[in-house]
Amino acid sequence: MNWVSGADLTAAVSNAGGLGTLGPNAGAESIVEAVELTGERTREQIRRVKRLTDKPFAVNVMAGFGELLPHSQKTVELMIEERVPVAVVSVGRPDVYTEMLQEAGIKVLHAVSTARHAKNAEKAGVDAVLCEGYESGGHKGLTELTTLVLTPMVADAVKIPVVAGGGIADARGVLAAMALGADGVYMGTRFMVTRESESHERVKEFIVNGQDACTVSISKGFMLARDLRNGFTEKHQELTQAGNAQVELMELMKGSQFRAQHLGQAEDSEICCGQGAGLIESIGGAGEVIETITGGLADLLNQIRDRVHEFIQ
Ligand SMILES: Cc1cc2nc3c(=O)[nH]c(=O)nc-3n(C[C@H](O)[C@H](O)[C@H](O)COP(=O)(O)O)c2cc1C
Repeated sequence: MNWVSGADLTAAVSNAGGLGTLGPNAGAESIVEAVELTGERTREQIRRVKRLTDKPFAVNVMAGFGELLPHSQKTVELMIEERVPVAVVSVGRPDVYTEMLQEAGIKVLHAVSTARHAKNAEKAGVDAVLCEGYESGGHKGLTELTTLVLTPMVADAVKIPVVAGGGIADARGVLAAMALGADGVYMGTRFMVTRESESHERVKEFIVNGQDACTVSISKGFMLARDLRNGFTEKHQELTQAGNAQVELMELMKGSQFRAQHLGQAEDSEICCGQGAGLIESIGGAGEVIETITGGLADLLNQIRDRVHEFIQ
């Protein structure tokens, strides 16, 4: 997660048995656009993760296009140099970096939002797909397929492992994803609200206080983004509806995630956040989150088995 998943969160998740993932701008104190500088910042964070855990971890690379390309090239280069175990590749084609990463011994998980994307990713040779439903926090494709329908469609479409994400924030979500055919799950929003996350404390509080329909999906032209509903999303929707407000929209978005996540301007800056926010009631440690979820699975499964038996009798 951009501006959120730094070395501490990544290592804490891996130490607790998950696969922690280092996000873009991890450990950053300011907005820097220079490719070399952002790359070297990521290298420092990778080295910090290695000091904090001896377990496998991942680094996210947004493969991208246009301005993003030099950044993703630099990230891939340094992932190879630093012998990162796993790459989570998003926002881009699966045939750009997969071979290069795998030749260096790096496992590739590729993010998709349709079954067709999943098939393309499998064809490109990725090791697993991450399918992200409409409930997810952050940026995604233009489709509105929810985790409930996307996961089984992707599970039917490919033979490689499927990791489901979007709206999963507790043991119920994990079991549901598995029932839908997922081999694993990934969670963003739930880990944003942990002690180790780099999100500003005000952002964490806003999410804990968020109830029910507290997020909204906004259109950024070539992609959708799900954010916590606040002054930023209201202004964004207003400008989008007004039409012809490209300059104002760019101005509104520029540096907005940094202002929220780093400076704590939670009322009027962009807080990427999934629908699962409404399920989060406290700020826990990342390890506690994983323990609570895994510890609750067996009981939950028994309860479901009983309910299903009642239902079919
Ligand atoms: C604050 C935030 C920042 C995110 N940044 C990124 C990112 O930089 N790269 C990426 O591939 N996905 C990013 N995502 C999406 C997550 O990787 C993941 O798909 C999503 O959080 C899963 O849905 P959930 O939030 O409902 O758990 C972000 C999500 C959040 C909440």
